[in-house]
Amino acid sequence: MSLLAQQENAVNLSQGFPDYQADENLIQDLGEFSKKGHNQYAPLSGIKELREAISRKFNLQYQVDYHPDSEINVTAGATQGIFTIISAFTEKDDEVIIFEPAYDCYEPAIILSGGIVKNVKMLYPDYDINWDEVKNLVSEKTKIIIINNPNNPSGKILKQKDIDELIAIVKNTNIIILSDEVYESITFDEKPHLTLAQYPELRERTFIVGSFGKLLHITGWKIGYVCAPSDLMTEFRKAHQFNVFCVNTPAQFAISKYLQKVDDFKPISTFFQSKRDYLKNALKETPLQLLNCEGTYFLSANFGAISDMQDKDFCYRLTKEYKVAAIPFSAFYKDKTDEKVIRFCFAKKQETLDAAIEKLLKLK
Ligand SMILES: Cc1ncc(COP(=O)(O)O)c(C=O)c1O
Repeated sequence: MSLLAQQENAVNLSQGFPDYQADENLIQDLGEFSKKGHNQYAPLSGIKELREAISRKFNLQYQVDYHPDSEINVTAGATQGIFTIISAFTEKDDEVIIFEPAYDCYEPAIILSGGIVKNVKMLYPDYDINWDEVKNLVSEKTKIIIINNPNNPSGKILKQKDIDELIAIVKNTNIIILSDEVYESITFDEKPHLTLAQYPELRERTFIVGSFGKLLHITGWKIGYVCAPSDLMTEFRKAHQFNVFCVNTPAQFAISKYLQKVDDFKPISTFFQSKRDYLKNALKETPLQLLNCEGTYFLSANFGAISDMQDKDFCYRLTKEYKVAAIPFSAFYKDKTDEKVIRFCFAKKQETLDAAIEKLLKLK
């Protein structure tokens, strides 16, 4: 869709990346650390300063302890962390449960490792999880359950009742949980992010995956992290060593310096909430039916009142005729389920949002 947006000279609200500049200090420090000579391989687990900064962040935000040496590893974006976890633990015919609509990097990694994808559909329009369905899917063969909270694309966040169900399901099993929490610092309306790290019964079997791309508006730097108990981390590192070995050194230094100065991560949610509200209020004037957005930087909408086209075709039409690019939800389903829902990314500067709104107000 980004390519089509470019060809059509359309406002691109499709792919999930900010179109504004990240913090000037962070950008300056990237060059500074390179100039100072930090240009060679970093340690396999990541530089100590960054692992300590990640540990501090968990402590400040969630009152959770991860040991910087044995329980934290820096990765080349969340994507590499996810790929490495899946390939380290999935063997032929192992089953991995994912929830749809699902971010697109889980399934190929599972298949490449010889695993079998078991999908559970979250229920439109609220995208609640039917935990009975999950219970019925779990078997001796279940190796990993992948959670994505807050969820891309639906903007859904897990509630305490979901966590309780998950705890009950994995109790007395060897199931590993991969908790993709790349949007953990972006939740709205005072709703808290419930990291699985907070629950001892889950922490002992869980990999938390994070992304500085999302946290600091630098998706192109591709730096993320995984946290897990040391026994799981030892296995992760065996795969990480040959998957990538280590990641961009000056970027790790710049991020760790930046994080040392941040004591409160709430302003990130406030920043994105005002963008969400701005887009939401404007789109109320269109025939689009907006869905709930509790977290992430994606707002979704049903276009059924405008057209009965397939969602993918509607997105083509939106890009070509109205000059706004969005992503069809069917792209997040293995069987291309079409609920007539499309996703807009609001991590955009004011003028981009205004340009998109002006065009979308013409929708009929
Ligand atoms: C749910 C989810 N997980 C993982 C990623 C990948 O993050 P990164 O860019 O750090 O690899 C994304 C990026 O959009 C995402 O939305």
